[in-house]
Amino acid sequence: MPPTSSSTPSSSPVPAGTDPRLWNSPFMRACRREPNAVTPIWLMRQAGRYMIEYRELRARVGFLELCKTPELATEVTVFAAEKLGVDAAILFSDILLILEPLGFNLEFSKGEGPVIHNPIRTTADVDRLRPFTDCAPLDFVPAAVRQIRSALAPNLPLIGFAGAPFTLACYAIEGGGSRHYDRAKAFMYSDPGAWNALMSRLVDATAVYLNAQVDAGCQVLQLFDSWVGTLAPRDYRRFVFPHMKRLFSLLPETTPTIHFGTDTGSLLELQRDAGGQVIGLDWRMELGPTWDRLGPNVAIQGNLDPVVLLSNRTEIESQARIILESAQGRPGHIFNLGHGILPSTPVDHALALIDFVHNWSH
Ligand code: CP3
Repeated sequence: MPPTSSSTPSSSPVPAGTDPRLWNSPFMRACRREPNAVTPIWLMRQAGRYMIEYRELRARVGFLELCKTPELATEVTVFAAEKLGVDAAILFSDILLILEPLGFNLEFSKGEGPVIHNPIRTTADVDRLRPFTDCAPLDFVPAAVRQIRSALAPNLPLIGFAGAPFTLACYAIEGGGSRHYDRAKAFMYSDPGAWNALMSRLVDATAVYLNAQVDAGCQVLQLFDSWVGTLAPRDYRRFVFPHMKRLFSLLPETTPTIHFGTDTGSLLELQRDAGGQVIGLDWRMELGPTWDRLGPNVAIQGNLDPVVLLSNRTEIESQARIILESAQGRPGHIFNLGHGILPSTPVDHALALIDFVHNWSH
């Protein structure tokens, strides 16, 4: 169980219809930049292949089937959150699921990662995308959120999420992972009209999808713009910023949002201005000076290098301490890795990190 906030300083008033146990949880308080008795922590990809229980389940069911079966998504989400004793659970799903109802043929093939068999290659391909105006084709997601919410401890917030439009567009155009996103960026530079049309469709669909997650019971949303760090600031400003700004404007005002990207050292101010109460940092940035740079009006999530968890307890604790000291106890720090936990991570090391962060900050 995560620590309770019984000894924390006063909190803002609990809005009508909100469970005070969730509202006053360390994670929600940090999202609102309220002082906390303990630094909350969760781990990106906290339910996954580094856990033997997950691998055993995956030996029996495919990844997409797991995401599409609310009972199983609930089991995986709740198991990981409880086993780790983290301060938030994250819905078990994937950022690419939304591409299916838009008309993409998605497959997770063994060893290869995600593959889209009919990627966008022409302007006409953008025009053929199907509209996504209600969440019905992905109804297994709000169904999972409802089940997870009722299975989780009443003081444990649930994070919903989606891919940000740039990162989704990269997959939709490349057809899978890519080193330089050359096809996606070439498409963007050569046909800005088609690019903006694609980004607008992705924003519309993502807004519907995230609102459905909140309606079903998520307390916080995270936008994963995992690959946006490949862009120069001037290109972010031109090709991404207006779409992100519009997406944030379509999300529920009362739900805190975490805006996460990797390799975005030169984009952070733009990302902050696009939206999000919390900015997610990868491990390439020093947390304290970066927070100074972004100013006191955002909370910060991060930012241990996930590879540190492959070392030993002494190194893990010393690196975690550096991050905590860099945060200087400022209200609004959510401890996390700088990117997803690696499949080769020993579970004991993840547990040691979580214990250390809780004990050090308490
Ligand atoms: O954080 C969590 O525990 C929630 C679950 C979650 C998954 N994917 C489960 C998953 C989340 C938040 C994601 C987001 C996601 N998916 C991102 C953004 C975050 C990031 O890492 O940058 C991206 C880029 C994807 C796309 C994706 N999904 C890739 C590239 C892969 C293959 C590579 C890999 O890590 O396996 C996936 C598959 C995937 N998504 C797995 C899990 C647990 C592994 C599937 C399996 O083999 O069991």
